[in-house]
Amino acid sequence: MEIVELKKGIYWVGAIDWNVRDFHGYSTPLGTTYNAYLILDEKNTLVDTVKSPFYLEMLGRISEIIDPSKIDYVVSNHVEMDHSGSLPQIFERIGNPKVITSERGKKGLEKHYQRSLNFKTVKTGDTLAIGHRTLTFVEAPMLHWPDSMFTYVNEDRVLLPNDAFGQHFASSQRFEDEVGDDVMKHAAKYYANILWPLAPLILKKVDEVVKMGIPIDIIGPSHGLIWRKDPGRIIQAYVEWSQGKAKKKILIVYDTMWGSTEMIAKAILKGLIEEGAEARLLHLRSNHRSDIIEEMLEAKGILFGSPTLNNGMFPTMGDFLTYMKGLRPKGKVFGLFESYGWGSGAAKEMKKYLEEEKFEVWEKELKIQYVPNGEELRNATQFGKEFARNITDA
Ligand code: FEO
Repeated sequence: MEIVELKKGIYWVGAIDWNVRDFHGYSTPLGTTYNAYLILDEKNTLVDTVKSPFYLEMLGRISEIIDPSKIDYVVSNHVEMDHSGSLPQIFERIGNPKVITSERGKKGLEKHYQRSLNFKTVKTGDTLAIGHRTLTFVEAPMLHWPDSMFTYVNEDRVLLPNDAFGQHFASSQRFEDEVGDDVMKHAAKYYANILWPLAPLILKKVDEVVKMGIPIDIIGPSHGLIWRKDPGRIIQAYVEWSQGKAKKKILIVYDTMWGSTEMIAKAILKGLIEEGAEARLLHLRSNHRSDIIEEMLEAKGILFGSPTLNNGMFPTMGDFLTYMKGLRPKGKVFGLFESYGWGSGAAKEMKKYLEEEKFEVWEKELKIQYVPNGEELRNATQFGKEFARNITDA
C-alpha cells in the first residue's frame, strides 16, 4: 500500500469506498473515501476511523507505519458511523487507547456501541500535548452532528475538521492539487446536499476560527481529497455559499406525462435565454435530486413545472420538494407552471408547499390545458422573459 504523508509524521490511513453510489439519498457516482489520520509522536494518535467494513483496509495502512497496538489516543471528531465505525474493532483487537471526544461525542459513542470506552472529553480551546506536538480542539456542533468537532495540529498547521470541507470523491489521488478544478464541483455538491441548512453556523464557525488566528497549511477532511495547495480556496467557497451568493442563473425543474409540460418548459427556457440568463432544463427523472440541489447552489431563480395528476403535483415533484425543504436553500425566487387536463391543481399544491416553508414565490403562475398551441407557447416564452427580468445577481 502506498504511504501518504501530509506533513512529516502525519499520515493519511483511511479507506477508499469505490463502490458506494447512494449515500443517504445523495448520489455518489465516484464513490467516496473515509479519511483517518495517524500522527506519530510520543503519544501516537489516530484522528477518526473508517466505516466498519473498511477496518482492515485502515489497519493495513496503519501497520505499514507502526504496530497498531502502539496507538495511544484515538480522537473521535464525529460519532456518525462512517467515522467512528471501526472503534469497537480497535478495542477488541488492538488495545485500549484513550478516546478523545466532545461531551456529546462521548454520549453518542456510548449509545451507538453500547459500551463505555476509555474516554477523555474536550471542549473548544482545550489542548492535548502528544509529545513534540499539541492538538487543539474546536467544537463544531451541527457540522455535521451536535457532537462534531475539529482537531488542529498546532505545530504543523494542519486542520482536521471531519465532515466540513469534504467531497464524495474516490480516486487514486489524495490531494486536491493532483486532480484539478473538478474537485470544486464535488465540494459544492457535498456542501449543498449536506451542509446547506447549516449556513449560518458555518459563517459563525469560520469567523471563530479566523479570530483564533490559527494559520492553516493543510485541511484534511473526513471525505475525499485533502486541501494542500490552497486551503483558503475551500474556506472562501464555504463563506460564499453560506452567504447565499448567486448569479443570474435560472433552473427549470420539471416532470412531464405526455410531453405538454416539457413543451411549456422549453418555451419558457427560450424566454430565459433571450433575456440573457444562464439557464438549465432539469427533468426530474433524468437528473438525481442531489445533482439538482447542487445546481441550485449558485442559481437565483428556480421554476418548477408539473403536470396535474389526481388534482395535485406529480409524485417526483413531491419527492424533490420534500428533499429540498430539509436543505432550506435561502435567497432563491421560485416560479411555477403546470399542464392540466380537466382540472388544474399542480401549481396550487406546489405553491402551498413552498409558502408553508416561507420560500419566496413569484406571484405569476402559468397554467395551460392539454397540449399547448402556438399562442400559448409564445405566452410561455413571455412568462420566461418576465421571470428572468425579475432575477438579478445577488
Ligand atoms: Fe461523514 Fe456526518 O459523517
